[in-house]
Amino acid sequence: MAFRGKKTMFVSLLCLFIMALSSPSKAELQRFEHAAKKDGSLSFLVVGDWGRRGYYNQSEVALQMGIVGEKLDIDFIISTGDNFYDNGLTGTDDPAFEYSFSKIYTAPSLQKQWYSVVGNHDYRGDVAAQLSPILQKLDNRWLCLRSFIVDTEIAEFFFVDTTPFVEKYFTDPEDHVYDWKGILPRKNYLSNLLKDVDSALKDSIAKWKIVVGHHTIRSAGSHGDTHEIAKYLLPILKENNVDLYINGHDHCLEHISSPDSPIQFLTSGGGSKAWRGDVNWWNPKEMKFFYDGQGFMSMEITQTQVDIAFYDVFGRVLHKWATSKQLYSTM
Ligand SMILES: *[C@@H]1O[C@H](CO)[C@@H](O)[C@H](O)[C@H]1NC(C)=O
Repeated sequence: MAFRGKKTMFVSLLCLFIMALSSPSKAELQRFEHAAKKDGSLSFLVVGDWGRRGYYNQSEVALQMGIVGEKLDIDFIISTGDNFYDNGLTGTDDPAFEYSFSKIYTAPSLQKQWYSVVGNHDYRGDVAAQLSPILQKLDNRWLCLRSFIVDTEIAEFFFVDTTPFVEKYFTDPEDHVYDWKGILPRKNYLSNLLKDVDSALKDSIAKWKIVVGHHTIRSAGSHGDTHEIAKYLLPILKENNVDLYINGHDHCLEHISSPDSPIQFLTSGGGSKAWRGDVNWWNPKEMKFFYDGQGFMSMEITQTQVDIAFYDVFGRVLHKWATSKQLYSTM
């Protein structure tokens, strides 16, 4: 017994020692590996702004996601945030997790890993609850963190916590109460986050670099552009040859290109309540597609090509787009 105890202690100390040696001096984004398919390709769905206990066509969208997910043999699902309306989760025991997630996305093809960020509505509740491993125990598909990386080799995904960038959530007294635990002082949080995203992008050798956040950078929807993110995050994305920026926040489906970079701005925020009806004018040369109603997006990736498609509540394809790269180029 004594021998065993000593051995355990020795192993624990050794582990601590190894952890101390390998822990980097700077904060780093948590990293997950997700293997691509055997042929090296990858496919997934993107849905945002959804948790409403099935109402506002959430269940209809979920049903079509299941059908498209099956057809594309998806590897995972990305949620662009605003996972639970109106005010996030009250705690890990909030039944909304079951009624708005587990009991809604029930199709066999959706029983895959979900990678989720938190949106501004999630910040109005208990943010830590959504990030908690307790939810992963309740439904092992769930993985939600503020900022993190998913590496599939062929493509690397950089999930960014965009809510703390938005000034008015901090300053507007008319606005709601937000759970800023772990965010303050805000300036430090944002500058560390930008530094981490920049260095992770610089280190990336993936063929395709995809950034996911809740808030828009470019959007003709009712919220429009998010100026703080256009100002602070977008230059980093441009500098590091990011291919796609994927977001929710505006409750619509949308694809915008810009003349000053190859980045495509893709909004998939049609997971439930939509039809706001207040679309703003946008240069038709940049606006590839806008749909004010509910739906979701799919993406298929190979070494040489990315194919995206947007679907409505009936599963009809509303918009398709593809881009390609040479097999042996490094960018
Ligand atoms: C559900 O989708 C249909 C078809 O797009 C639409 O006509 C209807 O208004 C939607 N319902 C809600 C509550 O948004």
